[in-house]
Amino acid sequence: MAELTEKIKSLKKEKKAVILAHCYQNAEIDEVADFVGDSLYLSQMAAKTDADIIIFAGVYFMAQTAKILSPDKKVLLPRMEAGCAMADMINLAQLREFKAKHPDIPAVCYINSTAEVKSECDICCTSSNALKIVESLGAEKVLFLPDKYLGKWVESKLSGVEVITYDGCCPVHHRIVAEDILHIKKLYPEAKVLTHPECRREVTELSDYVGSTTGIMKFAKENSARQFVIATEKGVIDRLRRDCPDKTFIPVKENLVCESMKCTTLEDIYKALVEEKYEINVDRALSEKALLCIDRMLEVSK
Ligand code: 13P
Ligand code: SF4
Repeated sequence: MAELTEKIKSLKKEKKAVILAHCYQNAEIDEVADFVGDSLYLSQMAAKTDADIIIFAGVYFMAQTAKILSPDKKVLLPRMEAGCAMADMINLAQLREFKAKHPDIPAVCYINSTAEVKSECDICCTSSNALKIVESLGAEKVLFLPDKYLGKWVESKLSGVEVITYDGCCPVHHRIVAEDILHIKKLYPEAKVLTHPECRREVTELSDYVGSTTGIMKFAKENSARQFVIATEKGVIDRLRRDCPDKTFIPVKENLVCESMKCTTLEDIYKALVEEKYEINVDRALSEKALLCIDRMLEVSK
């Protein structure tokens, strides 16, 4: 493993490549990653980098977003099967149907969506800036897709905005139900419950903090509590246990794993660097349209 890590590091230098890794990735990836974080942070880094090659240790929509933000760079996704089940829940035809049902209402799309979907939405958001983005529109009604739970959580936090949601969700976070929280709270009454907003509303309502993956980690590191129940993908717990060995992190339930996020290995990253694959390309006209939606988000998030 150490040998492979060194090989990747020197190849990275030679090829002027940068590795962006989402916080759900396997721990070994951190050793070679230049930037590790949530979707917003990684898209900001993808827009800024002056590297020739971007390797995305994450899922397809993240690499596609990086390509849209840096169209002249080579963007590689080490495993093509690393998709996002939520992003796949809405295609362009379904978006058009949803918009036609609710005409003249601005559409906000979660970054977990395809370039086609982004190209016909007004603005994009991530889990860390969704509140700010919806608020920035100053509208009484907003369409939100594909994640119904994130949309309804945003609505609960803003007064005077009706958020009309598309019927999509993340299958990993959807597995967490209210009973899981109630059960774990009985076992660990002192623990703070930290939850990703992709969870069901009944789950976010029972939580002490709701935020993105990096939001959850920041809260756990800065808060004086000693025990935390973590309601998101396992990668966040593994990371917190490594970073804060003096605190206790309890998974809300076992096996909360996003297989797509976990399929990328160090070997895959090495192969991606050597063979320069799998290259992500986006049609220029489509990319330019989708970029408007992403750029508006980055502008509001500054
Ligand atoms: P973050 O915005 O926290 O990175 O979430 C992305 C994601 O896919 C969570 O399931
Ligand atoms: Fe998509 Fe859910 Fe996996 Fe995040 S955890 S990448 S939303 S399937």
